[in-house]
Amino acid sequence: MTEAVGQVAAGATGRLVRVSELEEAGRLPEALAEAWRALEEAPDDSSAKARFAGLVGRNPRLAEAAHRPCLERLLVDAEIDPFFIAQAGWLLLHAAAPSWSGMEPGRLAERLESCDFALSLLEQSYLAVLEVEQVLTRVRRWLLLSGEWPRLPRLVAALAAQARHNNGAWLIDPEEERQLDAEGESAIAGAYRPPRHIPGPPIKSDDAVTRRVSEQYRGWPYPSWSRITRRPASSLREVVGRLTGGSLLSVPPSPEILVAGCGTGRDAAVIASSFPDARVTAIDISETSLAFAAQRCRSPNIEFRLLDLHAIGELGRSYDFIHCSGVLHHISDPEAGWAKLVDVLRPGAVMRVMLYSRVGRLKVQAARKLIADYLGRPVDDDLLRAVRRRLIDHAPTLLGGSPDFYTLGGIYDLLLHQHEDCFDVPRIVRALDRLGLDLLAFVIPASAARAAYRRDHPEDPLFRDAEAWASLEKKNPFVFAGMYDFWCHKR
Ligand SMILES: C[S@@+](CC[C@H](N)C(=O)[O-])C[C@H]1O[C@@H](n2cnc3c(N)ncnc32)[C@H](O)[C@@H]1O
Repeated sequence: MTEAVGQVAAGATGRLVRVSELEEAGRLPEALAEAWRALEEAPDDSSAKARFAGLVGRNPRLAEAAHRPCLERLLVDAEIDPFFIAQAGWLLLHAAAPSWSGMEPGRLAERLESCDFALSLLEQSYLAVLEVEQVLTRVRRWLLLSGEWPRLPRLVAALAAQARHNNGAWLIDPEEERQLDAEGESAIAGAYRPPRHIPGPPIKSDDAVTRRVSEQYRGWPYPSWSRITRRPASSLREVVGRLTGGSLLSVPPSPEILVAGCGTGRDAAVIASSFPDARVTAIDISETSLAFAAQRCRSPNIEFRLLDLHAIGELGRSYDFIHCSGVLHHISDPEAGWAKLVDVLRPGAVMRVMLYSRVGRLKVQAARKLIADYLGRPVDDDLLRAVRRRLIDHAPTLLGGSPDFYTLGGIYDLLLHQHEDCFDVPRIVRALDRLGLDLLAFVIPASAARAAYRRDHPEDPLFRDAEAWASLEKKNPFVFAGMYDFWCHKR
């Protein structure tokens, strides 16, 4: 969401414009070098920080040793989401001589204890690089089984912070399990098993899917995040103006915004901070997720509420913008739920919807075949780690590129969801038509795919041609592997 808002918000200096051009042309190392230069020239400029962080976050393997001071600084910068920085930071440390892979775990543990950057990386965000996770899992095992952990308290505390971010996702072998049983509540045990969230009361609903989905997210709130990237304040009118090529439709200067199914509140936090003149209501059916959201997001213009989107009419309000990401495909009748939201959308108001693509989820379906014997079993942390182990052992590259693979809440959401009803482009077009919505723009996430679309469809600069996205997806089946992501407005 952070990046997607930026995609439609204004770019800043000439250098940053050049960064965008280079990125769209697929010249990613040059784009990163240019973003780095912009940041060196204007180290406190929010746009320069966000641009560098976004690029290095999407392309962590392009980071170079010279970027390290910037990475160290941005990792703890209150305006930057540390997840974007962390993966590049880990890859740099991992690649630096002497190589970690061949190093004996005890020696590496000693090095990490005195490496402020590594400790900060563990503390700030979850790690999403499999080869690094495997090295650090061996280090943690050594700490536990050697009994040397009390000598390395900074590392143990940082590993405990990491376990809180990833919900205890790193694999644990039987010998470690036995030792952990003997450890009780010690500091090293906290590096394995973070304190569990105390789930709030279950939501009351007549709908079995809603109850099951609420149960899932009460136990494993999603997604895990620690900070958002803050961009200079903008307005919904400015964003809509870009999407429409100038028309503001009927968006007022101080819009009412609904975030439907806000989860742990990351998108809601981005929206509230990007549009300070808006009033944001964020609803969800997981009280645990809402508690996480309220703790992380302190914007004065946001209110979190426990509410089923089917009952949104009960609030007696209507909205100028509804944001609904990754939610409708998890309800029993997505189009019916979508209609409930459209009922509270003012005429001319806008909506941003993100939905699973059936084609984009093919890798997930392949992974599900590998874990077929786990599907349908009662879910707990051990089962989620067992799923991770199976995939790491048998198909490490299948989902290893997905951030969701690296937290237990993410694994549950990605692979074992209680209910999932995917879309394709014709189904979206039919739904828009029936709901009285007109398409404003499709968000094409990858810069190279965006550039290819522009080349192939110069007649559609605003990305509105549904048939063209369908053919884009045919040529590039994983272009919407994240989700379909589009803006529409009520006639
Ligand atoms: C995959 S998460 C997405 C969270 C958030 N929108 C994001 O993209 O980060 C789906 C969220 O939808 C919520 N949800 C599912 N069914 C819902 C319903 N009927 N009403 C409100 N929220 C719902 C879940 O509790 C969960 O937090």
